[in-house]
Amino acid sequence: MSATSESRTTGDHLMPTYARYPVRFVRGEGARLWDDDGHEYLDFLSGISVSSVGHCHPRVVEAIRAQAGELIHVGNLFYTEPMTRLAQRLASSSLGGTVFFTNSGAEAVEAALKLARKAKSAGDVVVLHRAFHGRTYGALSATPQESKQAPFAPLVPGFVAVEPTAEAVAAAVTDRTAAVLLEPVQGESGVWPLPDDLLRTAREACDAHGAALLYDEIQCGLGRCGSMWAYQQAGVVPDAMTTAKALGGGLPIGALVTGDRLSQVLQPGDHGSTFAGGAVVTAAANAALDVLEDPALHARVRELGERIAARVEELPGVRAVRHRGLMIGFDVTGTDAPGIVRRALLEQRLVCNATGPETIRFLPPLVIGEAEADEAVDRIAPLLADAAGS
Ligand SMILES: Cc1ncc(COP(=O)(O)O)c(C=O)c1O
Repeated sequence: MSATSESRTTGDHLMPTYARYPVRFVRGEGARLWDDDGHEYLDFLSGISVSSVGHCHPRVVEAIRAQAGELIHVGNLFYTEPMTRLAQRLASSSLGGTVFFTNSGAEAVEAALKLARKAKSAGDVVVLHRAFHGRTYGALSATPQESKQAPFAPLVPGFVAVEPTAEAVAAAVTDRTAAVLLEPVQGESGVWPLPDDLLRTAREACDAHGAALLYDEIQCGLGRCGSMWAYQQAGVVPDAMTTAKALGGGLPIGALVTGDRLSQVLQPGDHGSTFAGGAVVTAAANAALDVLEDPALHARVRELGERIAARVEELPGVRAVRHRGLMIGFDVTGTDAPGIVRRALLEQRLVCNATGPETIRFLPPLVIGEAEADEAVDRIAPLLADAAGS
């Protein structure tokens, strides 16, 4: 990266909440991105599981254009066709109840917490170590990570964090519990699929104590793991779940989806959001769902996930690979995963990220082919060999 292009990327007036790389992207198509120097990159991060349909998918672009020319905003005191259609599609692909739209993942988690507490008239929420549910106060309070929580105390009370094991969950749920909240595949902590017996135990404990089982499918849902919803592989159904990220095809939208039992808990005045469920984002989401609801896509995601994981496992310095579909995390020797990721971006023009000092994560668009799967592995291989000293 030249000094000139580096200075062009400086964001003096951006709050330094992100350690940004010196790259400025100007265009995207499928799994490819281009920077302002004309370099082409292979995107194996998808804006952290957002661009699952690929960048600028023609159906999404066309839906946004068409809707923007018809109606952009009217607010939540009225219906729009894209909003009601999207709610119907989300409900029928999952839990069959009702949908509350949000503008982000964290807001969907907030809605889920309010729903569960109102359903049980207050109560504790059991969450898991290694979880990540977002940065707003409720979602942050549900994210038991010292570095993220400590500077912002006091947090929302009533969260009980336990180890991600069936035994720990069973022991934590009592008559005081309003909900158990978990990601079927934990994402931000480095891709940890939760064991089926943990989900089953959480379901049984919630049923025994009148608590709600809440899944956060913001990162792992919408085909990412090789099924429409990650929980469908374990077959343990929650009372409500959150989604966001890939839902809008790149536009910001999230949702809380309930099953029957909790579908009427939140009533007029209980919750709201000015922009949520707007006509343009829901039109984009309907177009994204046209791509993501395809069982053939899910089968390909499973195949490609196996292919990448098998190849990564063979690379020098890779200690462990964890994956579900195209949600892939691998631990490397040493503690310089962030350095490897930086070199991947700047030298190999491969976009991925490090979830910690030892773990690299791939979250490619779900529409990649075998050639792109292999290309990503080929691009990172020499860097892993370097880091492993071989
Ligand atoms: C599982 C999970 N829940 C919640 C969130 C928060 O979503 P958002 O950043 O859209 O608020 C994330 C974001 O990474 C996530 O991975």
